[in-house]
Amino acid sequence: MKKPIIAGNWKMNNTNATTKTLLQDIAPLVENAQCEVVVCVPYTNIDTARKAIRGTKIKLGAQNVAWAPKGAYTGEISAEMLKELKVEYVIIGHSERRQYFGETDQSVNARVKAALEAGLKPIICVGETLEEREAGKTAEVVIRQTNGAFEGIEKAYLKRIVVAYEPVWAIGTGKTATAQEANDTIAIIRKAIRKLYNKTAANAMRIQYGGSMNAKNASELMAMPEIDGGLIGGASLKAEDFAKVVNY
Ligand code: 13P
Repeated sequence: MKKPIIAGNWKMNNTNATTKTLLQDIAPLVENAQCEVVVCVPYTNIDTARKAIRGTKIKLGAQNVAWAPKGAYTGEISAEMLKELKVEYVIIGHSERRQYFGETDQSVNARVKAALEAGLKPIICVGETLEEREAGKTAEVVIRQTNGAFEGIEKAYLKRIVVAYEPVWAIGTGKTATAQEANDTIAIIRKAIRKLYNKTAANAMRIQYGGSMNAKNASELMAMPEIDGGLIGGASLKAEDFAKVVNY
């Protein structure tokens, strides 16, 4: 049985001071969680978060990683640097990175490889924009992004990878994909993985839904057969809301 995985993506929120209090508030509320619980915090808060979650169920994640191991890449953070801080998961290819910071399928793929080589667990994000959805291109886009992200990734690494389907139009908008829509698109992503590898690998892959997932809609989404977890933005910034999603 796959263990579901609920991850909070804090995006560019929280200082070290609020990181500590938020995690202290979350920890007791998720103590009996049946799923894996992850918080993906800003780089500057990683060390504070690591200390705050010691002895709890919560695991540590970052929100991006460089494709190169080291060198002249001003502003980037390497996989080795994250490993040193005991980071376990890293979000790669979030739509906000693609939209505002020029991330492409190629750079996402290179970052995934760097993360895997250093022993990190990538959470690879894919998802269509509203324009693409309205043009009937959802399947084409998520298949292209999936194929791109997995290009040249050895089968042996698949166990460490999580995919997040995040329709861009549902992020931060309060509009969720219906559970059925999310389920159907995740099935398309899983089929793409099956074509790249095999049925066993595709079925074993944990694929999350993300996009306005919250305390109210989490249980309906999580009940869908293809949905193996959630990537939570806004609702991960409030202890009670995040805990309700985790305990869906
Ligand atoms: P919201 O939950 O705020 O819509 O954000 C989703 C997201 O982008 C998580 O990565």
